[in-house]
Parts: sequence; C-alpha cells; structure tokens
Amino acid sequence: MKNISKLVSRLGLEEKINLLTGHPTLMASNGVPSNGIPPVTMADATMGVRTQNSVNLDGAVCFPCAAAMASTWNRELLFSLGEAIAKECINESKDLILGPGINIKRTPRCGRNFEYFSEDPYLAGELAAEYVKGVQSLGVGTSLKHFALNNQEMNRDYISVEADERTIREIYLAAFETVVKKAFPTTVMSSYNKINSVYASENKYFLTDILRGEWGYDGVIISDWDAVHNIGYSIKAGLDIQMPINQNIQKEVQEALENGIITEDDIDASVARILRFLLESNPQKIEYNRKNQHMAAKAISDESICLLKNENILPIDTSKYKKINIVGEYAMTPCVCGGGSAQVEVSKKAIDSPFECIKKHCPEEIEVCYIDDVINKDSHRTAPLFSGRSRVLHNVKKDDLTIVFCATQDYLESEAIDRAYLTFDAYTDEFLRILTGCCDNVIVVMQSGGAVIPCQWHKNARAILQMWFAGEAGGSSIADILFGCINPSGKLSETFMLKENEINYPGEMRCVSYDEKWRIGYRYYDLHPEEIWFAFGHGLSYTDFEYSGLTVEVEGETAHVRLKVKNIGKRAGKETVQLYVHDLESSVSRPQKELKGFKKINLLPGEEKEVRFELGQRAFAFYNVTLKKWYVESGDFLISVGSSSRDIRLKKRITIQKNDEYTMKNYTFSIIG
Ligand code: GLC
Repeated sequence: MKNISKLVSRLGLEEKINLLTGHPTLMASNGVPSNGIPPVTMADATMGVRTQNSVNLDGAVCFPCAAAMASTWNRELLFSLGEAIAKECINESKDLILGPGINIKRTPRCGRNFEYFSEDPYLAGELAAEYVKGVQSLGVGTSLKHFALNNQEMNRDYISVEADERTIREIYLAAFETVVKKAFPTTVMSSYNKINSVYASENKYFLTDILRGEWGYDGVIISDWDAVHNIGYSIKAGLDIQMPINQNIQKEVQEALENGIITEDDIDASVARILRFLLESNPQKIEYNRKNQHMAAKAISDESICLLKNENILPIDTSKYKKINIVGEYAMTPCVCGGGSAQVEVSKKAIDSPFECIKKHCPEEIEVCYIDDVINKDSHRTAPLFSGRSRVLHNVKKDDLTIVFCATQDYLESEAIDRAYLTFDAYTDEFLRILTGCCDNVIVVMQSGGAVIPCQWHKNARAILQMWFAGEAGGSSIADILFGCINPSGKLSETFMLKENEINYPGEMRCVSYDEKWRIGYRYYDLHPEEIWFAFGHGLSYTDFEYSGLTVEVEGETAHVRLKVKNIGKRAGKETVQLYVHDLESSVSRPQKELKGFKKINLLPGEEKEVRFELGQRAFAFYNVTLKKWYVESGDFLISVGSSSRDIRLKKRITIQKNDEYTMKNYTFSIIG
C-alpha cells in the first residue's frame, strides 16, 4: 500500500486522469508507460473468450452458457470451469474476463438471460463466486456485472428501474453481495440503466455506500461500455474507469475539478485502486491444450443438461427400434451460444454434432435417418403449414424413434434485444404438434438460453430435455445422456412456465417499476403453481433417491440441518439436495419458500450419504428497511428439503424466540416437532 501512495504522489495530474479511462484499443485499461506498468487487456464473454483472431486454429473454446453452468448446481465444477476460462484468457493473452454476469432473471424475455445464472440470488451468488475464485486462482481478473438491476435489454441505456429498498436488497443485490464477500472479484462493472432515477454509473448509494461502505469492496469499478454520462459525477460516486476510452477525458475531468464536482483527492483514491489493480494483474504461465479445454466444456454440459420428462423411453434401448429419425438442423449444427458481446467465435470443426455423436451410439443394423428440411434456421420465416410435413411424416413411421432438436436461435436470445415471444417459432410448434400427435416415440431436445413456453406438443412428447446453449461439446453430452452413458443430473436454474407472469415490463415513460417486488421466478410461481411447466430446481435422473432422517439442531445462531439421501435405483447418479426456508409468522410479506442451501452428491446404487447444512442468521432474515439491516423476526420457520422447489421430500418446523427485538445476540432457537 505504501509504494502505491508513493507512486500516486509521483504521477502528474494528466497521467492520473489518463488512468480514469480505457486504452485506445477499446478492450483494455490504460497502464503507466512512464513507470513501465502495462495496461490490463480485457475480453468478453463469460462462456469463453470472445475474439476475432484466436491463436487456436479452431478458435477459442465455447463453453456452455451461464444458465447452463448454473443448472449444474455444482460448486466444485464451477470453480474448475473458472480455471478453464482463465486458461482460455491466458492462451489468448487476455488479463481479465468481462464476466460473470449475474443479473437476476426478472422476466424470461430478457435477451441476455442466457448470459445470466438464475432467477434466484442464492444459486446465482454461490455459483458465480466459485466461477470468480476459479478464474482468479490463475491470476486472471474478472468483472462482476452488470451492477445493478439491469434485468432487461429494452431501453437499457436510459431506462430508470424503480424499485423499493427491500426488493433491491433481497432479490437484485444479494447475489452481488455474495460474490463480492466470498470471491473478491477484481472489478465490478456498473450497468447502463438508472436506479431510482440515478444512472448506475454515477450512483453513489450503490457504488460507494453499499458496494464499498457496507460490503467492504476495495477493488476497481469500471463502467459498462459507453455507460458514463458525466465522468465527474461518476468519479464522485465511486466509479474508477470509464470504458471504453473517453478521448475528451482530460478536459472533462479538469472541468469537474474547476467546478468543484470532484477534488484531486477523489482522483487519487481512484488512481490508487487502479494502480493496485494494474500491479496485481498477474496471469500465470500454463500448459494450454485445446482438447483438454474441450473436455472441460463437456464436463459442464454433461451436468447442465436437464432431463425434464421421461415416460420410460430414456435411456434409449436400441434393441427396440429398427429406425431412429433425427429431425432438425440443430441436430447437425447445434445452437451453442447466444448473441451479442457474449458470443464466442468457435469454428464449426470444434463443435460436436449431436447427429454424429448419436450415430456412434447406434449399432450397424439400425437405420439412422437425418431429416433437416424442417426445423432449421429459417423456420421462423416459413409459414406454419409447410410442404415438408407430408414428406417428414411419410418418412417417419409411428413406431420409429424420433428425436427432434429445436432451438430459439442466437439472434432471438442476444444482447441489445429482448425476446419477442417465449415459444419456439410457430412453424416448429406446428411441426411438433403434428409429429407428437401421430408418432409414439418422440423425444424433444430444446436448445435455448432460457425458458421456453410449449404449445400443446409437450403432452404427447415422451421425453423432453433442456440442452441449453450447451457450448461446443454439448452434442457429445446429449448423445451420452440419451444412450445412458451419462446419468443426467442437471436441475433447472430458472422456472419453465406455461404462462408468463404479468409484471410491469418493459415499462413506460422511460421507467420500469418493479412493483411485483419479490414475486418473480419460483417466488411468483409458488403462488400460481398451475402456471408451472417445469419447476425451479427440477431435473430427473435415471435412478431414484430416497430422503430420510431430517433433523435440525441449534448451536448459538446456527441451525445445523442433517438428513440422509440414498440411491435406491440400479445406476450411479448425482442428486442435488435443495434446502428451502419459509417464514411462517412474519410481519412482512415473504415468499412461500426461498433457496438457502444446496449440495450435489454422487451416489452408487444402494449407497446412502449424510448431507449437512449450516444455516446462519441470513438464512432466516429479511431486509428490514426501518432498521436498515438484515433482520430475523421471532416465530416459526419451515425448513424443507427436496429434489426441486416443488418436489419437497422432508420438512421440519422450528421456532425462533427472541428476548430482545433488536439484536440477534439474545435469540434462542427451540424446536417444535
Ligand atoms: C457490452 C455489455 C458488457 C460487455 C461490454 C464490453 O455493452 O453490456 O456486458 O462486457 O459491453 O463488450
């Protein structure tokens, strides 16, 4: 710290001001040439490195999208994913990855939801923290984004998000708080939008009072690209680097100094943080092997694919079929990533084709027929009643096995736009309705970055899998799962609904009001279960798990939860045990349940393991806007454990008694049966 302040004192004002904006190459900070301190180079895109000129012949490796990462529910795997992303950065000579993006999925329409983790702040925070720790473990930087309440793309540059303090804290900041406190991200990126009428990039309450003051964040805050409207206001609010380069920064900062908007101390405080950031950037030397990186991507897609429905048709028993039809262009060229700044440029050669991988699992005597002139990238432009129907149905026999690959497309799920509709295109839906109406063995594989609403075809499909934008190795993962080489263990990181919840979206008069408060995602759908297609946390396995022996013991301010989970099936499998807390007696409205713990365990057939959770004060607290702090109220709570938010297996009711209304110190926990 001493040599930093000495260095600050030795810099001239012009050199200091230069550090407050980006490098002319647009994807880097400035360095300090007079002291031989290099810039920090940056790259999008969270699920790999976005670069037009990769050092790899086959381009940078494309990993599964963030929604898929989150559907693994596997902390250790997210850490190793972070390490793999760091290796991609080092290989491409990038010092920092501009991710992870952890904005909460308020509406399934947000075009960037594929880039974000979840509708639940606990799941998003826990997993993104592991990703950040993994990336930074190899000396590569991260940028936690977009801080904050950037939950739609429509009018993102200027819209003001109007939300109450409790909603902001409990739903939209909680994941950021977890990652900042658990993983210390190198940088935080402020978002485009306004929050309660003040731009995020010049919002002192968020950048300084909360992020730095309450959470103790002492890293660098960078702006989203072109998100700064007044560098003086932004520096005063706590922002450090305006990205990308502001060619006029010398004049604008001098004016801000002359007008008393900022002082030289404000500049020195930012410069000190930036210098430490520059000096601490230290990507390690690594052995890079693209094949190993491809396998690291496959390890994620293996565990992120969710088996949503299975009417005794999976895993595929090839002895039952003479012919397997593989329908849809996405079986040959899968949709591996969404659009915008997160899109990884990967060569087709590097992408595992589901069709080719499926063929490898089929014995010679089975005819594997590829049908590509229905459901392709032009589907959305083709009239629903199409000529291909008769040909396809002529080719598809009632008792064949037919696997249909559908996708939402990367130009529909992308940065800078929101989704105009949540179904597949009308042509695809029409085809699925016809096919599932007249063929017995139809498996539907969905490639999307977020929730899809079905159109009648779902009732007759015998199996449905959510493949996500599964990255370059997703094709081999889906084939391994379809034929049972891998037992699926993915769990939905967001609700798949039959009906979209009515919220104020996209807003009006340059404002969007979050007046639904905490009623988003499963917190909303628990109040409207009839509108759920597949629940948050849902995902089937080829084996079954039995939950037993739930106990809750209390020590001080921690509730120790224990239970046993047994694999009662014939195959090894991974189960994610989810723990939800419900405040049964509350003076404020609270969700029916909130995720406060999860553990993914691997069990051999017949094997039983004990699973433990330690619940601290925050697991029971809500944000008390009067006391301006997280606060636990006396009364009964329900602790539920299960295989999804709607598949609760065991419950235990506990009572929290408080002697003093205002401190946690005197809480005594007692348990009622
Ligand atoms: C974009 C995105 C941000 C990205 C940055 C650099 O506008 O909002 O996520 O990292 O600019 O491309």
